[in-house]
Amino acid sequence: MANRIAVVGSNMVDLITYYSERMPRLGETIEAPNFELGCGGKGSNQAVAAAKLGSKVMMLTKVGDDIFGENTVNNYSRYGIDSRYVEVVANTSSGVAPIFVDPSGENSIIIVKGANNSLKRSDIDAAAEDLKKCDLILMQLEIPLDVVYYTIGFAASNGIETLLNPAPAVPDLDLSEINKVTFFVPNETELESITGMPVSSVDEITQAAKFLVEQGIRDIIVTMGGRGALHVNKEEMELIPPYKVTPVDTTGAGDAFIGSFAHYYLQNKNIDTALATAGKYAANSIMKKGTQISYSTLEEFEEFCRS
Ligand code: RIB
Repeated sequence: MANRIAVVGSNMVDLITYYSERMPRLGETIEAPNFELGCGGKGSNQAVAAAKLGSKVMMLTKVGDDIFGENTVNNYSRYGIDSRYVEVVANTSSGVAPIFVDPSGENSIIIVKGANNSLKRSDIDAAAEDLKKCDLILMQLEIPLDVVYYTIGFAASNGIETLLNPAPAVPDLDLSEINKVTFFVPNETELESITGMPVSSVDEITQAAKFLVEQGIRDIIVTMGGRGALHVNKEEMELIPPYKVTPVDTTGAGDAFIGSFAHYYLQNKNIDTALATAGKYAANSIMKKGTQISYSTLEEFEEFCRS
């Protein structure tokens, strides 16, 4: 039977500019050669990655009553994602994300949350019976914090595993509200802002991750870009080496990593094997432009692994 994953998270319309040499200064206009429009948002990206690999995914999110909302819902159908709990919010824009990719493939992103800000505790209650049928709930921080805390509590009291990707970092994340998550997956910058501890070396990152384990979180996975990932829990500390490729566009690579990790973890609950595969899946995604469209299907990914 397919893994059942719920994403309580965001959707955005990605407005991607390739390849700007630099960001404009205040009052300045600069030109970039290309533009692409795509479906994004950290929550939806993670949902799509898992769905493309074959997980059964359910999405809880809100879209605006503009030209983008309907397109987002159609996009979920394209990937077989259950959108029964996707609601349109009146008089509100959909979430949008202007993204600037530089010639090295690195990106800068501005998000406007729009309708994502309207997700409420009552939306979790409305989906409760279907959420209880899920094996794992994924969350990020592009929706109200209060809903994230509530979902973590709901999942913990119903014995459902959870993964929180604290992105984008928020200054007021309350550790006592998130210490019941199963997986906590920050990058180095997010880890630094959440713990207030230095993260300039793998040793320092390990100390900061251990601090979070002491707060009660079961597994910390720190994504470190070109340095791979670090997995820390009470029993072990495992460094997962990076899978080296030449990047075309790194946008959404973290989401590809998390969505594919969720999929492979649920197959046999071997965390380190799932992390190694997720690293490869994310590397494959940065060889292509875009966010969700850069994520491989299972067949494409298996072909990539063979080659
Ligand atoms: O993580 C990448 C995503 O961040 C983009 O798709 C953009 O929409 C923002 O949410």
